[in-house]
Amino acid sequence: MRQFPTTLSQFIIRSQASHAGATGEFSSLLTQIGLVGKLISQDLRRAGLINILGTTGETNVQGETVKKLDAIANDDFVKVFQSSGHVCALASEEMEQPILLPKNWPHGKYMLLFDPLDGSSNTDNNMPLGAIFSVLRYARTDQSPTEADLIRPGTEQIAAGYLLYGSSTMLVYTVGQGVYGFTLDPDIGEYLLSHERIKILDKGKVYAANEGNYNKWSEGTRKYFDWLKVSDKPTGRPYSARYSGCLVADVHRLLLGGGIYLYPGEVDKPEGKLRLLYEANPLAFIIEQAGGKASTGTTRILDVEAKKLHQRVALIIGSRFDVEQAEAHMQGRA
Ligand code: AHG
Ligand code: MN
Ligand code: MN
Repeated sequence: MRQFPTTLSQFIIRSQASHAGATGEFSSLLTQIGLVGKLISQDLRRAGLINILGTTGETNVQGETVKKLDAIANDDFVKVFQSSGHVCALASEEMEQPILLPKNWPHGKYMLLFDPLDGSSNTDNNMPLGAIFSVLRYARTDQSPTEADLIRPGTEQIAAGYLLYGSSTMLVYTVGQGVYGFTLDPDIGEYLLSHERIKILDKGKVYAANEGNYNKWSEGTRKYFDWLKVSDKPTGRPYSARYSGCLVADVHRLLLGGGIYLYPGEVDKPEGKLRLLYEANPLAFIIEQAGGKASTGTTRILDVEAKKLHQRVALIIGSRFDVEQAEAHMQGRA
């Protein structure tokens, strides 16, 4: 009798059974995330053939040029979730304002914040891409949510995860009971459990960062990158540099193999580049659930006070030893 694989839906229903109070609604929300992943990975497999490369000619709220695939991915998320009946609010990196579903629309008790396409500089050269999502619960029933209800600290997330469009398409998520990875089998259109209870190594030997920014960093940050390059067997140095241009792909690599990803603050731009609510917070939830750390260099990401929807934050994330080494240098303690 062959070993029957565990599908995403079977796994969610099984964990729902052991998760008192879990409702089928959340399980179905995750399945909808998987649907977006199928739609985008299908497009990506033929991207060079169906006129979806290049830019739309617009600039988004981040001040970034919008790639056609950014807009396609954002539309897919909005179309799937606006009519899903699971959410009452949607916030996206690609939309200045959130979508607050009116009372008479089918809606549920969750609020979804997402980066619909992460690593957009990779869209036209067949390099890895991803999507990142964060789920909050909206507790009130007497009124619809406002934008302020979306601006919550990372500790209030009830679920978080990412889609990785790499050599295979994966969905990795946590609901606070460990980190689980599912690989899409395109032949049957199912996500199958492939990585159970992912745990990150306490120390890695790889670092991911855009060192083109070296001269913009503080002295402490530069000292850390210099430290990584010194030959020293006991601390496993020099580290190897691996940077894909896609945060999801770089974090996935260190989740499975150990190491650190850094997008530090700069002297003139201490808040850095990445966005708190739909990039740093969800990945910080995942990495902490896997036994790693995520900080700004001084503050735990999940404790950072959220003030604005598109708030940026410096991100140092990965293996515990490596993040603590980076923090020590950045805080002038090393
Ligand atoms: P996005 O494509 O959603 O804007 O995210 C890009 C992020 C992250 O994925 C990546 O690690 C980083 O920006 C790359 O920035 P640089 O090009 O400045 O290195
Ligand atoms: Mn991104
Ligand atoms: Mn993006």
